[in-house]
Amino acid sequence: MDTKIPEKLHVDAFELRFADISEVSLSQLQALSMSVGWPHRSQDWQHLRDVGRGFVALDEIGRVSGSTMWFPHEESFATFGMLITAPRLQTNGTAEWLVKRMLEECHHERIRLNATRAARRMCATFGFMPKQTVFQCQGEILSVPQAGDIRPGLDLRRLERSDLDAVAALDEPAFGTLRYQHLKRLFESSICYGLYDGGKLMAYSMRRRFGRGHVVGPVVAYCEEDAIAVVHSHVVAHVGSFLRLDTHFGAGLFASFIQQSGMSVFDTVTTMVSSEGASYGAPNTGSPIVFALASQSFG
Ligand SMILES: CC(C)(COP(=O)(O)OP(=O)(O)OC[C@H]1O[C@@H](n2cnc3c(N)ncnc32)[C@H](O)[C@@H]1OP(=O)(O)O)[C@@H](O)C(=O)NCCC(=O)NCCS
Repeated sequence: MDTKIPEKLHVDAFELRFADISEVSLSQLQALSMSVGWPHRSQDWQHLRDVGRGFVALDEIGRVSGSTMWFPHEESFATFGMLITAPRLQTNGTAEWLVKRMLEECHHERIRLNATRAARRMCATFGFMPKQTVFQCQGEILSVPQAGDIRPGLDLRRLERSDLDAVAALDEPAFGTLRYQHLKRLFESSICYGLYDGGKLMAYSMRRRFGRGHVVGPVVAYCEEDAIAVVHSHVVAHVGSFLRLDTHFGAGLFASFIQQSGMSVFDTVTTMVSSEGASYGAPNTGSPIVFALASQSFG
């Protein structure tokens, strides 16, 4: 970016300045996300800060009025997220100011993000191209839909830390880049299942505490049947409680299984990329596919 981003921004009667996101308390960040109706707990913000970097907009008395983050995956690849402006200051240019500052700092060539309806047009003005719809499915699990049998010869089991290399190898072509450090951090706080064909991992899923309950993701598999097989145990474990899963699948076997369990479509966002090279692996190429996102920020 060739023009210098101003260090201060006058918004209404406020003067905002940048600060590193690590300088403010988790409770301030949680208050900001709550103000826009997002469910993040302070532990969820801690996870975001463990693996990401970002800026906040502070007013004169140190209140957090905005945030933005990026999550490096590989040297040339990052995901963006947690772009928030406090409601009382919205539509005054704060988000645009934050994104410009972030782009100045984040030198990754390939960037992917999930834009809400409010952010989509602004992201397009920064050159991001819409690629796919994400269906945010959530709700109380009412019953466990019929899942069909696991394909003959495949073995479903809980994954251990020693399975992480196999998970990363399966994940890379689906996600579009190696995200080893993210998977390792997710592994530490998740219950994970894998579907093995002998020594070859065919599908995996993770489930962790997040927001109002638990979230299932990431989920990667070669086909819908295998994706259902690795998600099934998570659904069984949560009958009567709140579960969330974000997926690009709006129809078909996998989407039906998710929605029939009680996780209905709550909202949609749009996956956008800075270049074709920042896309997910292409479907129908015999490669594994991402069936559920780790989160909207992590992709
Ligand atoms: C999306 C959000 C960050 C925008 O923040 P903001 O400070 O109001 O944005 P800005 O004032 O910098 O506006 C940037 C552009 O977005 C547009 N915009 C802002 N709020 C909008 C809304 N609610 N609906 C549609 N467009 C909106 C502005 O008109 C502006 O477009 P323009 O440059 O063509 O005039 C803010 O509405 C928000 O925090 N929403 C809830 C959380 C969220 O959706 N985050 C986005 C995650 S990707």
